[in-house]
Amino acid sequence: MRTAFITGITGQDGSFLAEQLLARGWRVVGLVRRSASRNLWRLSSILEQVDLVDGDLLDLGSLIDALREYQPEHVYNLAAQSFVATSWRQPLLTGDVTALGAARLLEAVRIACPAAKVYQAGSSEMFGLSGTGIQDETTPFHPRSPYGVSKVYAHHLAVNYRESHNMFVVGGILFNHESERRGVEFVTRKISQAVARIAAGKQQELHLGDTTVRRDWGFAGDYTRAMYLMLERDTPEDFVIATGESWSVQCFAERAFAVANLEVSNHLQHDPKLLRPAEIPSLCGDAARARQALDWAPDCSFDRLVERMVEADLERESR
Ligand SMILES: NC(=O)c1ccc[n+]([C@@H]2O[C@H](COP(=O)([O-])OP(=O)(O)OC[C@H]3O[C@@H](n4cnc5c(N)ncnc54)[C@H](OP(=O)(O)O)[C@@H]3O)[C@@H](O)[C@H]2O)c1
Repeated sequence: MRTAFITGITGQDGSFLAEQLLARGWRVVGLVRRSASRNLWRLSSILEQVDLVDGDLLDLGSLIDALREYQPEHVYNLAAQSFVATSWRQPLLTGDVTALGAARLLEAVRIACPAAKVYQAGSSEMFGLSGTGIQDETTPFHPRSPYGVSKVYAHHLAVNYRESHNMFVVGGILFNHESERRGVEFVTRKISQAVARIAAGKQQELHLGDTTVRRDWGFAGDYTRAMYLMLERDTPEDFVIATGESWSVQCFAERAFAVANLEVSNHLQHDPKLLRPAEIPSLCGDAARARQALDWAPDCSFDRLVERMVEADLERESR
């Protein structure tokens, strides 16, 4: 049986990827960090089918031990301090986990299982103020947050391990992808949860920062499918994964409120305290290379994504 090792398995993407790998007949091993109460809700339907191993991206020894033991064929580095806003409040932790954590993982693979194929989770936040209307694999990076800077370091290091150690390492440059499993701190889920709570009479207002910001939003399950396709190729190459459509936060909110037959203007408050120290006004990706080389395309439309997130939160709030 083929074995995949996933860091960040308890996160949004880790849970979708694990389900997809299991469905393909893989053995799935997930790295889980120590905490007083483990964050396993996203894995509830597959907990019996995955192997969870203790470890942390901050601890090189734990990574080497786990990789030595399981000798995976695929390694997906999805773990990160992944929330942009937190990266200004905790820039050193973000760098340690998101940037140096990737370095530790690459070192651990080099030492313990150098033939493994490695996926490094890069982000459209690396483009930042790219100065172009649409970004692809050739667009220069100009990150605008400690998170984006950390991802740029990790991406360049992934490319460097490929070039200097002859390892199979790919950098996925994924634009925002969401789902009903998104953490509630992220703006899309913050909106869908607020809509459901307002519909249930548990909340009156939704406070947001800059709602003119535009992002290219896809569905997480479509994007984890692309990660797998990148590792199933014969040659390692970096790919942008995106829908090619860009929508404002305002637009996301309008559609989300409409799903619950609510009027956004009755509930949305603009809160200057939520503005970021440096913003990226707009991101929109061109995934032409992935469409051609991976035969990848997103299945879920923007409208359907908003709908499924709001419907899931309406269901949660009605319990
Ligand atoms: N979702 C997007 O739109 C997007 C776009 C581009 C790139 N990315 C990147 O893609 C990856 C997956 O995203 P996601 O949305 O699934 O993120 P997520 O839901 O925030 O999950 C992050 C995962 O990292 C784990 N983690 C955090 N610190 C760790 C540490 N020190 N050691 C080991 N594990 C640690 C978390 O574990 P706990 O459960 O214990 O907290 C969680 O499993 C991330 O690297 C993210 O930065 C995401």
